[in-house]
Amino acid sequence: MNICSVVGARPNFVKLAPIAWELAQHAAVRHCIVHTGQHYDAALVDAFLHDLRLPPPHYALGIGSGTHTEQTARTMLALEPVLRQEKPDWVVVVGDVNATLAATLTAVKCGLRVAHVEAGLRSFDRTMPEEINRRLVDAVADLLLTPSADADANLVREGIAPERIRRVGNVMVDSLLAALPRAMASPILDTLELSPGTYAVVTLHRPSNVDDPPTLRRLLAALVQLSERLPVIFPVHPRTRSRLDALSLPPGPRLRYLPPLGYLDFLQLWRQARLVLTDSGGLQEETTALGVPCLTLRPTTERPITVWEGTNRVVGTNPAAILSAAEACLSGPYPIEPRRPALWDGRAAGRIVEALLSG
Ligand code: UD1
Repeated sequence: MNICSVVGARPNFVKLAPIAWELAQHAAVRHCIVHTGQHYDAALVDAFLHDLRLPPPHYALGIGSGTHTEQTARTMLALEPVLRQEKPDWVVVVGDVNATLAATLTAVKCGLRVAHVEAGLRSFDRTMPEEINRRLVDAVADLLLTPSADADANLVREGIAPERIRRVGNVMVDSLLAALPRAMASPILDTLELSPGTYAVVTLHRPSNVDDPPTLRRLLAALVQLSERLPVIFPVHPRTRSRLDALSLPPGPRLRYLPPLGYLDFLQLWRQARLVLTDSGGLQEETTALGVPCLTLRPTTERPITVWEGTNRVVGTNPAAILSAAEACLSGPYPIEPRRPALWDGRAAGRIVEALLSG
C-alpha cells in the first residue's frame, strides 16, 4: 500500500508524527510525506521535525506565505504532479490549515481517496478561515477520522453517512505522551529562571486576535495587568511578531516575549505553568490531557469537550473577563488531576493506521 501524507503548518507535524511512526512499523506500506511549505521558518519547521522525530519530507513544495487564495491555489498546482506520480491508495490530511484544504481538493480531483485526521470539529464561526477549511474537507474526504463523539455528531448533522466516520481519538495526545520523557529533560525552566507552577504561558496567533490592532492592544493590556500577579511568558508566533512590531508596545515588567520554541521546550514550559492563556486549538487539547488550567481567548471553541471534560474555559477577549477568569484559576485547585476524554489515550495513531489498512 502506498500512503501519501500532506502537511504544511506547525500543528500538522504534531498530528502526523505518531502516524508516521506507526506506518514505519508496516514493511508493506510505503509512506511518502509531502511538506507544502506553508510554514518555512526553521523555528516552526526544522525544530518540530527534529523534536517529533519525523523523517524529512520526500517532497518539499516551498509554497510559502500569501493570501489564502494564493496559498491554496499554489499548493494545488504544485501537489497535483506529485500525486499523479505517486498514485497513493490514500492521501492523509490532518487538521484544518490551508494545506489541508488544498491537498484534499487536489486529491479528490485526481480521483484519489482522502482520509482526514481530526475530522468533525466545528466552531460554528464562519469568520475563521479554519472553519471553512474543516467544512469543505469533511464534505469531500472519504474517511473521516474523528477525535471525539461530538465531532461524529457534527458530521452526522451535516448529512455525512455514518460509514465514512471512524472515531479514533486524539492523535496529538499520542505525540504528547511519547514526547513527555524527553521534554522533562529540557532545561527551559532553568534557562528562563522559572519555578514550576509560578508563571503563566500565553500564545496568540489567530487573525481575529492579532490582525486587529484594537483587539491586540486590549489583550496585551490584560496580559500586562496579569503580569503584576505572576510572570507571563509569551512565545511569539511570526504572524503575531509582525503585528506587535507594528504597534511598538513596551513589554510589561513581567511580560516576557520569546521567539517560537521547539516542541519539547514548549511542552516542558506549558506543562509546568500555573495557567495557560491561548487562542490555539491544539493547546486547549494538550492542557486538558495533562490537567493544566487553560483560558481560551476566543469567543468560541471547536473543541468543546475540553470544556465539558477538561480544564479549558472559553473567556473571549474582554480584559475584565480574562482577568477575573485568571483570578478564579489562580485561587482554584492546583495541580489538577487530568481527566482525559475517551480515546485520548496515546493510541490514536494505531487506530488510524488500522482504519487505513483495512479501508
Ligand atoms: C496557520 C493556520 C492556522 C494554524 C497556524 C499554526 C491557516 C488558514 N492558518 O496560521 O490554522 O493555527 O498556522 O501556526 O492555514 N510566517 C513566517 N514564517 C513562516 C510562516 C509564516 O514568518 O514560516 C508569517 C508570514 O508573515 C505569514 C504569516 O506568518 O504571512 C501567517 O502565516 P500563515 O501560514 O498564512 O498563517 P498562520 O497565522 O501561521
